[in-house]
Amino acid sequence: MNKLFLGAVTLLLAATSQVSRADDTVERGRYLSVAADCAACHTAPKGGQPYAGGYAITSPLGDIWASNITPSKTHGIGKYSEADFAKAVREGVRKDGAHLYPAMPYTSYAKLTDEDVHALYTYFMQDVKPVDAEARQTDLPFPFNIRASMAVWNLLYLDKATFKPDPSKDAQWNRGAYLVEGLEHCSSCHTPRGLMMQEVGSQAFAGGSLGDWYAPNITSDKIGGIGGWSDAQLAQYLKTGRVHGLAQAGGGMAEAVTNSLSKLHDEDIAAIVAYMRSVPAVAEPGASKAAFAWGDAVKAPGEQPVRGTDASPSSGGVLYSGLCASCHGAHGEGSKDGYYPSLVHNTTVGLARPQNLLAAIAKGVDREVGGEHVLMPHFSEGSHVQPLTDAEVASVATYVRTNFGPGDQVTAEQVAHMRAGGDKPLLASVPRLMLPAVIIGVLVLLALVLLVRRARAEKNKNKHNKASA
Ligand code: HEC
Ligand code: HEC
Ligand code: HEC
Repeated sequence: MNKLFLGAVTLLLAATSQVSRADDTVERGRYLSVAADCAACHTAPKGGQPYAGGYAITSPLGDIWASNITPSKTHGIGKYSEADFAKAVREGVRKDGAHLYPAMPYTSYAKLTDEDVHALYTYFMQDVKPVDAEARQTDLPFPFNIRASMAVWNLLYLDKATFKPDPSKDAQWNRGAYLVEGLEHCSSCHTPRGLMMQEVGSQAFAGGSLGDWYAPNITSDKIGGIGGWSDAQLAQYLKTGRVHGLAQAGGGMAEAVTNSLSKLHDEDIAAIVAYMRSVPAVAEPGASKAAFAWGDAVKAPGEQPVRGTDASPSSGGVLYSGLCASCHGAHGEGSKDGYYPSLVHNTTVGLARPQNLLAAIAKGVDREVGGEHVLMPHFSEGSHVQPLTDAEVASVATYVRTNFGPGDQVTAEQVAHMRAGGDKPLLASVPRLMLPAVIIGVLVLLALVLLVRRARAEKNKNKHNKASA
């Protein structure tokens, strides 16, 4: 009887420890999915079912719709084995063999360890609710609808090596590298893209246009990047999306903070900070002073803002007093509690490119951290405050830049360009009919470059072999 009892207890204990180990894996997978921000793209905005797809990533080539990645057997990834899942996440190849577009950041996720892919898979299969509904399909124009062309692209630009810690660096730095380069895929926004939409490695984190918003230079450059920020400021920015008298997170950064960064453990934030400190400095064209350092011009009490104060209703000064001053203060000083940020000593106002100032006015700001919702109204079509024309946005932005920033003139053309989706890579601006020829030309060129490189590597190897013989 006693033996039976003991046996039962042992079995029960074994079973619960099995269960808790499986639970641990699910919990780890959940945390990883937050760090990798899978929901940002795979969940439709405003109450979409978790991971059921329906969010469009706007690319210069057209909208790319994120898939349903719930474990639905009919419309999701319910039939994916762990190997299928790993191939999709790290190599950008679907179960049916079709290639994914790099709007899915598999070039970053390629760094994920087998262990982490396993935990992610376990979480998706065991804990995510299946949704049997079709997500919208992507339909890019010819020739971009030929998914097989991505195989060539991958050959050139996908580094399949999973993350290998650098033994010359400490554990914190390595954790940071893994988070920044892999899970958090910071470079997918902050690194400029080249002709073929690839990230330009030599310019890592030097800034990239996302269309309307611009992901600024976050290299360690003291003037062009974030070299002048303290560790504490950087950690607070990532965790909360705002540092009074320095910067706020709008656009895609607000989404990254809301869905991912604000939910990371403090040690992981510290690791990201440690890694970002070591990113080589890249200078920012046109920056003569750190973006946060502008704005002392009108700090003296009683001093009046300068230009743009003529009385016409579309003058920058009149627009600023009527539309902005109620929240940001007549002198751009913001509110005392910091809820409404100061526009003096504000990177968005002081960056060499005015793009994010224009995007903030045209699109507003929307971020949620720890239950607190931060909202700035937008001033475009449908604004509940007042829709502004391109010329009016330019005029109020010029007023803001003149008084609180680097003092350049913003033109209506710059606003129109931002509203139309910003800079496009060369590839998208070539007339449609010429595209196949251009692509083939570029691929041939790249293939040649690769051949030459390989030949050189062979030569070096031979030399080396000879030397060591
Ligand atoms: C920046 C946006 C973005 C993020 C973040 C993202 N994905 Fe995706 N994902 C996409 C897009 C877009 C597609 C569809 C691409 C296409 O149709 O070529 C996709 C496709 C997939 C597919 C292929 C499914 C199928 O059969 O069509 C899987 C699996 C997947 N993602 C898993 C994940 C996981 C897991 C994460 C987090 C670790 C993640 N994704 C994060 C954008 C994203
Ligand atoms: C989805 C695109 C996206 C991703 C992913 C992203 N960022 Fe950003 N980031 C932006 C944008 C856009 C801004 C500008 C926000 C603003 O000014 O309101 C920004 C701003 C910043 C700033 C402030 C720069 C300044 O001068 O004000 C820092 C620092 C930063 N990001 C770091 C990171 C790090 C570290 C990661 C990865 C953990 C990351 N970002 C991931 C888009 C992104
Ligand atoms: C109803 C109050 C309100 C009004 C009106 C308003 N703002 Fe804002 N503004 C905010 C809030 C709230 C934020 C976000 C603060 C944060 O991110 O923590 C913000 C952020 C900003 C930012 C920083 C955006 C970023 O992402 O870095 C700029 C620049 C800005 N506002 C300029 C303006 C200008 C110019 C106007 C007038 C055309 C204006 N605001 C009108 C409340 C307002």
